[in-house]
Amino acid sequence: MKKYNLLLLTPKNFAKTTQLIKEEANNVFIITHAFIENVILKIGKKIKITSVIDGVETDLTKTDYVFAKIDSHRMERAYPIINAFSLLGIPTNYPPETITIVHDKFLTNMLLAKNNIATPKTILANKETINLIGKKIKFPIMLKLKHGSGGKGVMYIEDIKTLNSVVSSLESLKQTMLIQEFVKNKGEDIRIIVCCDEIIGSMKRVIKEKGATRSNLKNSKNIGEKYEPTMDLKRIAFKCAKLINADVCGVDIIEDVNRQYYCIELNINPGIVGLTKATELNIAKRIIDKIYLKIEDYKKHLL
Ligand SMILES: Nc1ncnc2c1ncn2[C@@H]1O[C@H](COP(=O)(O)OP(=O)(O)O)[C@@H](O)[C@H]1O
Ligand SMILES: [Mg+2]
Repeated sequence: MKKYNLLLLTPKNFAKTTQLIKEEANNVFIITHAFIENVILKIGKKIKITSVIDGVETDLTKTDYVFAKIDSHRMERAYPIINAFSLLGIPTNYPPETITIVHDKFLTNMLLAKNNIATPKTILANKETINLIGKKIKFPIMLKLKHGSGGKGVMYIEDIKTLNSVVSSLESLKQTMLIQEFVKNKGEDIRIIVCCDEIIGSMKRVIKEKGATRSNLKNSKNIGEKYEPTMDLKRIAFKCAKLINADVCGVDIIEDVNRQYYCIELNINPGIVGLTKATELNIAKRIIDKIYLKIEDYKKHLL
């Protein structure tokens, strides 16, 4: 017997990861799948969250848990929706503030540094700051769009001339950016997924293209390989997931040539296709099982 209702809240054109999660969730939950674009959020005497599903206006608050997938493109629309669930006391996989932090690379780095998690030296950059500090910058550096994702807004830059011209172009396109010390590494990074206080999978992402500097798996030749994290890495991953209060948290870490770990990114909607392949584990099931236990625990404490 399925006891709990789960609301899956995703973009209309959802990715393979959502499909895998949905199939797995379907085994244990009564699922409602709503699209962020179609949510109707009304404030009157009460806060109402509905959506038209199969032609019927459906109350989305009749759920035990909201599993949301809020990407950076839909953040402005989705933030008030997650905030509404939070105000109504309905558990969500992450609190609204977390959406703002993780979709902003600078805010993420700042949060990590403040909490003593090693992260590369980073500067919020624009033309003026580059003019002021240009001579002090040690190249190579990574230039990143503050709201970029999937490796798309990350550029490896080797000299001041290139940096000046890229920053000028991006500024004219109204992009905010940061520059970051390049962490010399073996051409790989480590992705660990923490779900409700447990590491449910980890891998190395190995760069396969000659001269490439980004290890993202999607739309690349890079490959994920099985990897068992060290105790230090596990500690970093747990601390990160706790910091942003996310039930599912992807933690990306680079090991430099001196074996120092640097956390470069946190991901609240980590893709699981590459990790499933690399680990040969059913990552979707691991996530759903943990969420199920979390809801069960939450219900017990309500009694
Ligand atoms: N400071 C850095 N030093 C070395 N490599 C980096 C650094 N920052 C990012 N990278 C590489 O670029 C990839 C993409 O960067 P990331 O900040 O994770 O952006 P995205 O959100 O687009 O994935 C990382 O997975 C890593 O391989
Ligand atoms: Mg990344």
